[in-house]
Amino acid sequence: MNRAIEIVRDADLTDLTTFRLPARTAELAILHSPEQIAVLPPTDKDQLVLGGGSNTLFIGNWPGRILLNRLSGLSFEDRGDDVLVTAAAGENWHQLVRTCIDRGLHGLENLVMIPGSVGAAPMQNIGAYGVELSDLTEHVDAWDRVEQRPCRLSRKECDFAYRDSRFKSGEPGRFLITSVTLRLSRRFNPDTRYASLRDALDQAGIDQPTARQLAATVMRLRRHRLPDPARLSNAGSFFKNPIVDEAQARELLSIHPDLPHWPMPDGRIKLGAGRMIETLGWKGKFIGDAGVYARHALVLVNRGRATTADLLALINTIQDSVEREFGLRLEPEPLIIGG
Ligand code: EPU
Repeated sequence: MNRAIEIVRDADLTDLTTFRLPARTAELAILHSPEQIAVLPPTDKDQLVLGGGSNTLFIGNWPGRILLNRLSGLSFEDRGDDVLVTAAAGENWHQLVRTCIDRGLHGLENLVMIPGSVGAAPMQNIGAYGVELSDLTEHVDAWDRVEQRPCRLSRKECDFAYRDSRFKSGEPGRFLITSVTLRLSRRFNPDTRYASLRDALDQAGIDQPTARQLAATVMRLRRHRLPDPARLSNAGSFFKNPIVDEAQARELLSIHPDLPHWPMPDGRIKLGAGRMIETLGWKGKFIGDAGVYARHALVLVNRGRATTADLLALINTIQDSVEREFGLRLEPEPLIIGG
């Protein structure tokens, strides 16, 4: 049965994003089933989809319609040693990871505890501890706003890149993601290449982790390094790690030999922005109520009533100081809307 579509006018968005900047939307439509998308009352206003709100910031009121994705449901399809897991876009990402681990389905262990919804995961190709969503994606189902019909995008068609996808930068706004299908394995093949994960396992004396041990180790690392949005408002990593060519990386590393860096498959080098910001003394510094988390310089936090002006001043000042010292301008990772 199709539930009636709830549409709220002049709705408050503050509690719908984890950074909790104050903002309102002209319309908020709450979606519970994919069928509702086709029968939404027409509007000439801009529309935007919001899931868990952990990667979106509103720096002004939204004059259009927000579609709050609350689609739910999980299904599993056997494919030999693999299982295709389909999760509706409104499901909670961390719950999905836990359910899969409980069912003995492997591949997501390193991605435990990432805040947000399943539908947001492909937008920015979420990743942590050496694993990215794109490594596990079979396909993404969406509503195509251009063609006005449901569609399926293969992993290749999603144009995944580091914290980027067709949904985020290729054709923003075209696809409303309804579900994500992942190819997981019944065989556990832990990925422990990421240095801080390997170190944490070594310190715990774990040589061959079980899936639960691996997930528990990632959770311990995250709890230690990253703030819980339920206690301290934040949007995860605020800046992307910049990717530069080899010559620029070599030059920077000759001046800053301790800068964490990772080679990319295309030969370029990803540099640790957290260390750059930390080196410049930003950890624990605030402008108004917007500041840099004391334990991880890549994470900006709202310690109370941060305003848009506080946050924008903080972002700009950090970008300027990094640019002066390292010669590159950091790009925000979350979607920044309005203004
Ligand atoms: N580092 C510092 N100071 C800091 C932060 C980091 O020196 O304040 C150093 C660390 O000591 C380490 C290196 O930088 O040597 C990398 O740090 P970390 O492992 O925390 O990773 P990151 O590159 O800062 C990325 C993701 C995180 C993800 C972690 C772990 C981005 C933008 N961020 O952070 O993702 O959890 O790796 O895999 O790629 C997110 O996207 O919201 C997010 C939290």
